[in-house]
Amino acid sequence: MLLLLLCGMSIALPPFIRADACRNISMLHETPSAGQPFAFNCTYPPLTFRNVYVTWYKHPSKIPISKNIQSRIHQDQNWILFLPLTWEDSGIYHCVINDTNTCHSIHVNLTVFKKSWCSASRNSQPNLLDEYKQILHAGNDDSLTCHLNFPRSCVLDSIKWYKDCKEIKGERFTSVGKKLSVNNVSAEDRGNYACQATLTHTGRQYTVLNRITVNITEKVGNGRRIPKIIYPKNNSIEVQLGSTLIVDCNITDTKDNTNLRCWRVNNTSVDIYYSASRRIQEGIENETSFQDHKFYTVNITFLEVKMEDYGHPFTCHAGVSAAYFVLKLPVPDFRAYLIGGLVALTGVVVSVLCIYNIFKIDIVLWYRSAFHSTGTIEDGKLYDAYVLYPRPQGESQSHDVDTLVLKILPEVLERQCGYKLFIFGRDEFPGQAVANVIDENIKLCRRLIIIIVPESLSFDLLKNMSEEQIAVYNALLQDGMKVILIELEKVEDYTSMPESIQYIKQKHGAIQWSGDFTEQSQCAKTKFWKKVRYHMPPKRYRPLSPVQLLKRTPCDLTAGTWEASVGFITP
Ligand SMILES: *[C@@H]1O[C@H](CO)[C@@H](O)[C@H](O)[C@H]1NC(C)=O
Ligand SMILES: *[C@@H]1O[C@H](CO)[C@@H](O)[C@H](O)[C@H]1NC(C)=O
Ligand SMILES: *[C@@H]1O[C@H](CO)[C@@H](O)[C@H](O)[C@H]1NC(C)=O
Ligand SMILES: *[C@@H]1O[C@H](CO)[C@@H](O)[C@H](O)[C@H]1NC(C)=O
Ligand SMILES: *[C@@H]1O[C@H](CO)[C@@H](O)[C@H](O)[C@H]1NC(C)=O
Ligand SMILES: *[C@@H]1O[C@H](CO)[C@@H](O)[C@H](O)[C@H]1NC(C)=O
Ligand SMILES: *[C@@H]1O[C@H](CO)[C@@H](O)[C@H](O)[C@H]1NC(C)=O
Ligand SMILES: *[C@@H]1O[C@H](CO)[C@@H](O)[C@H](O)[C@H]1NC(C)=O
Ligand SMILES: *[C@@H]1O[C@H](CO)[C@@H](O)[C@H](O)[C@H]1NC(C)=O
Ligand SMILES: *[C@@H]1O[C@H](CO)[C@@H](O)[C@H](O)[C@H]1NC(C)=O
Ligand SMILES: *[C@@H]1O[C@H](CO)[C@@H](O)[C@H](O)[C@H]1NC(C)=O
Ligand SMILES: *[C@@H]1O[C@H](CO)[C@@H](O)[C@H](O)[C@H]1NC(C)=O
Repeated sequence: MLLLLLCGMSIALPPFIRADACRNISMLHETPSAGQPFAFNCTYPPLTFRNVYVTWYKHPSKIPISKNIQSRIHQDQNWILFLPLTWEDSGIYHCVINDTNTCHSIHVNLTVFKKSWCSASRNSQPNLLDEYKQILHAGNDDSLTCHLNFPRSCVLDSIKWYKDCKEIKGERFTSVGKKLSVNNVSAEDRGNYACQATLTHTGRQYTVLNRITVNITEKVGNGRRIPKIIYPKNNSIEVQLGSTLIVDCNITDTKDNTNLRCWRVNNTSVDIYYSASRRIQEGIENETSFQDHKFYTVNITFLEVKMEDYGHPFTCHAGVSAAYFVLKLPVPDFRAYLIGGLVALTGVVVSVLCIYNIFKIDIVLWYRSAFHSTGTIEDGKLYDAYVLYPRPQGESQSHDVDTLVLKILPEVLERQCGYKLFIFGRDEFPGQAVANVIDENIKLCRRLIIIIVPESLSFDLLKNMSEEQIAVYNALLQDGMKVILIELEKVEDYTSMPESIQYIKQKHGAIQWSGDFTEQSQCAKTKFWKKVRYHMPPKRYRPLSPVQLLKRTPCDLTAGTWEASVGFITP
């Protein structure tokens, strides 16, 4: 019985509720401008997706809004349309969404503002309630949308965009449908925009205008989400082997980012890669908050830089961003190089000079023998040297001088070395006047060899040298002919010698006879003869006869022992 009653009530109730009131869903506020079309859609998803019965009312009237499309205010499908809106239209409107067994109502508090666009009074109205607020993202391409919500019966076209009451022009701006696309947004794009369109309804044209306040934000947007690594910059760092090194990774990122930051080597976290030695470690991240971004610092510490670290990229990662540095050995100081180079060069030059001085004679003689030409010197001379020596007078002559001048000198210089000598007392024609002999022949010689005998022995000999001879070699000095002074024995005191001899000694030095008068001293390869040959003109060797070759054999053998001690010669 009770069940039947309840059942009957449930059948009877819906018509009662429907008749009484619908469910209030929401109270909306709209603040459109007077003088232009305005429309409002009655939607309550998902209910309104179906075909539902919608009726618009103006409070407190119970009479629905007209559906006559010629009416200034009429209902067009779910829409309420004002063509155009007037200031008197302010009030509460509500739409009833009447389904078979449910009923909902939406209230709209419409407050119409009478505003002139771009008038001076505009700035005195800071809270323009009809304004739309939109955000453009700096550094990106972005767009603004013109809010033109009208039923299909309204045709909208010729949309124009304004900024600060001036029509927008320029490459960066493109009007596409209800949108204005803005390329490469910058801070100066902030400002008051407006979009204007022509609305045509049943043959009548109206102008619709939207005001849009545009703010620029650096925060959100595609490009903003990528963390920026300020340092490192894929650079290289010079560091000494074995030193300690700390490198910061400095990053800026958005406040709300979820990126992880770390240092990696060979695509592995350094703390893992060097987990055994802990020689290279990642520091603890430090973050500093700024108004619109965060700044992160995370360092990498090399307790000791090792050779294997050079040339390897150490990469700082922050989300998708990465940047690395590479260690390299310091470039040695350029000045150090220069000084080192100069020192080395000086050393080489000094060594070369020393070696040359020590081996000068050998080098020159070797050079002469290696690059000798077979031709004769075309200087009009007949002899290579004129040999001048104290001519013994009477019986007290020196046997040694004779041996040297008449036996050894010709043997070595003429026979072994191929020189041609003029020896007074051997080569002059008999009966010739002494002065003539000297005068004529000396001009035919390339060198003058003077044999000196120590004063104690040769006092008399020297004194007995003819005046002519002394005069000749005075003249020779003026001619610039090279003079080779050979001392038969060490001469301690030259003061008693003629001035010309003193001069030659001072200028060119003297070669002291060091040998005895044995066979060995008659070899061109002894120290003494090398010195003499060095001062002699470069001489072309005559081809030696087999007999001569045989004669030279012992000489060559002894030469080897001498050459081993050549380093002791002082220049
Ligand atoms: C719905 O709201 C209107 C206006 O605010 C009010 O008059 C009415 O009584 C409300 N109805 C219900 C069922 O709350
Ligand atoms: C407005 O209402 C219609 C039904 O009349 C609906 O199809 C459309 O999606 C609604 N438009 C908006 C912008 O909510
Ligand atoms: C809802 O619609 C039905 C017809 O579909 C109608 O009879 C009823 O009066 C409507 N209710 C209201 C509150 O408009
Ligand atoms: C409608 O809005 C106006 C201005 O915004 C306000 O003064 C008024 O109280 C509102 N009415 C209701 C019923 O909320
Ligand atoms: C974007 O604008 C800035 C100046 O506002 C300019 O420096 C930059 O080159 C522009 N970028 C492009 C891609 O046009
Ligand atoms: C624009 O946005 C910035 C933050 O991005 C904010 O500080 C500022 O108040 C906004 N300006 C306006 C007019 O809304
Ligand atoms: C990284 O940031 C820190 C803290 O601001 C600063 O001390 C350091 O010099 C920066 N390093 C580099 C390489 O920019
Ligand atoms: C880097 O790692 C790979 C394996 O992950 C290894 O084969 C390679 O030798 C490593 N390189 C260096 C330089 O450590
Ligand atoms: C580095 O390692 C990650 C996974 O840890 C992998 O996805 C990536 O391909 C590797 N990159 C290189 C260059 O080996
Ligand atoms: C490196 O980071 C550590 C924290 O992990 C900090 O104590 C240290 O001061 C940092 N070193 C430098 C030079 O910034
Ligand atoms: C982080 O860096 C700031 C500024 O560079 C500094 O004042 C602060 O002490 C650092 N914090 C830590 C834990 O190192
Ligand atoms: C540094 O190198 C990374 C690859 O390791 C690259 O993605 C990045 O663009 C480079 N950055 C610069 C400033 O060259």
